[in-house]
Amino acid sequence: MNNLYISSHPLVSHKLTHIRDRRTKSRQFRELIREISALLTYEATADLNTTPRDIETPMAVTKGVELRENIGLVPILRAGLGMVEGIWWLMPNAEVWHIGLYRDEETLQPIEYYNKLPVEPTVSVCLILDPMLATGGSAVATVNILKDWGVNKIKFVGILGAPAGIQNLQTNHPDVPIHLAAIDDRLNDQGYIIPGLGDAGDRQFGTG
Ligand code: PRP
Ligand code: URA
Repeated sequence: MNNLYISSHPLVSHKLTHIRDRRTKSRQFRELIREISALLTYEATADLNTTPRDIETPMAVTKGVELRENIGLVPILRAGLGMVEGIWWLMPNAEVWHIGLYRDEETLQPIEYYNKLPVEPTVSVCLILDPMLATGGSAVATVNILKDWGVNKIKFVGILGAPAGIQNLQTNHPDVPIHLAAIDDRLNDQGYIIPGLGDAGDRQFGTG
């Protein structure tokens, strides 16, 4: 499928196995979310633009580069929050703009409850962060919000995706690359990813 990137890195696969394990407790679960997010973002940002810059080492003047783009991390509350720390470790200057959405339990439609984006965009690239791409409703709604805000270079960084959610996001926003650790089999009747890892928000925040 176009614009879909599934990491084949053994570190990601190893950590994914541990995060799926029902015996993994919140503290380790959060660590794994951070680590997997950093590894996936390393791969997802391989095409960021840079500007040449001369730099003086203690020995000589040489040529280097600097990131040209202003990067915004957009975690979808709650579960996307845990992804921020790992990515900040790679890109400490990234701005973080939170979007609060929850899924209605009956309809599975995303309900927006938090959005404090300023009127004018302050970044040129947005990475949407959410570990779970289930029906894709939350991801599609977030891309809509960011495009309305005026940002057009958008990537989705998640951990697990279901085929239905991937298709939904690709159909509505074919220009948005999707970066995941794995594609799972299906959704169950409650919209949970199978085999999945359970409820990513509850497992991070100990609220299950
Ligand atoms: C979960 C998850 C995603 C959404 C994915 O959030 O973190 O945001 O569901 O589902 P979708 O692809 O079908 O939209 P949830 O609504 O459980 O809220 P929470 O993160 O606050 O627990
Ligand atoms: N949200 C989750 O936290 N887990 C799923 O499997 C689906 C949506």
